[in-house]
Amino acid sequence: MQPEVTSFFHAPTYTVTHLVKDPDSSHCVIIDSVLDFDQKSGRTDTKAADEIIAYARDQDLVVDWILETHVHADHFSAAPYLQEAVGGNIGIGNQVPVVQDVFSKVYNFGDDFFADGSDFGILLGDGQTIEAGGMPVSVFHTPGHTPACVTYLIGDAAFVGDTLFMPDSGTARTDFPGGDAATLYRSIKIILSLPDETRIFTCHDYAPGDRDYAWESNVQEENQSNVHIKAVVSEDDFVQMRTDRDSTLEMPVLMLPSVQVNIRAGHMPKPEGNGIAYLKVPINHF
Ligand SMILES: [Fe+2]
Repeated sequence: MQPEVTSFFHAPTYTVTHLVKDPDSSHCVIIDSVLDFDQKSGRTDTKAADEIIAYARDQDLVVDWILETHVHADHFSAAPYLQEAVGGNIGIGNQVPVVQDVFSKVYNFGDDFFADGSDFGILLGDGQTIEAGGMPVSVFHTPGHTPACVTYLIGDAAFVGDTLFMPDSGTARTDFPGGDAATLYRSIKIILSLPDETRIFTCHDYAPGDRDYAWESNVQEENQSNVHIKAVVSEDDFVQMRTDRDSTLEMPVLMLPSVQVNIRAGHMPKPEGNGIAYLKVPINHF
């Protein structure tokens, strides 16, 4: 089964949202959506999400699922906004309470926050298969970048989130709370044991070396030429390489504002007494 994949690149955050359609019906899923956020003004905008909504309506699509590969640290999720517009269940891996627990403590959320995944619609287990129309969507837990990362395998296409990037861009960082390089290595090995021709769709691309932006490769290409995989011969080598590299990386620009929204499945904090909602910045914590 070869699903039809339409990808939307969000240039401000280098994020790719994939709309994946059943080849035999009008049903589809949307993976890793983006709500625009301008940090200077504190304003959100629905430009990127509206483009996807317009496409779904124009093509008469039935959106069954709005899926997240993980709690993102570099953009805001548009899942609640999309759900309001086009319907569908919001889904994420069922380890998400681990991420919610860590970060709700960082942000010192109150008793009205429950780190039990209940803000998300449906929590997906490792090996579980959901459906969009007749199109099966298999869920594989692929932790490492975060403890709750999943890969969605839909026919011949794997949506790997941030575990892997294009072959010239390597693999995801593992230095966020709960990240683990050895775990990421094992998750990547699971993905790269899929059949050679399996299409790999990533969640980000940064177009190194002035090439065009790209987000699709395949298992064979990743095995042969991923710069972080081909260069290492063992898990220990990978952990060393990944740890060295992570120590040189700055925090993502939108990490502090976005994570506190994304652990609430993309919902903003409640407005305070003056009607304005606020995001928190932990000082000298990271
Ligand atoms: Fe990420």
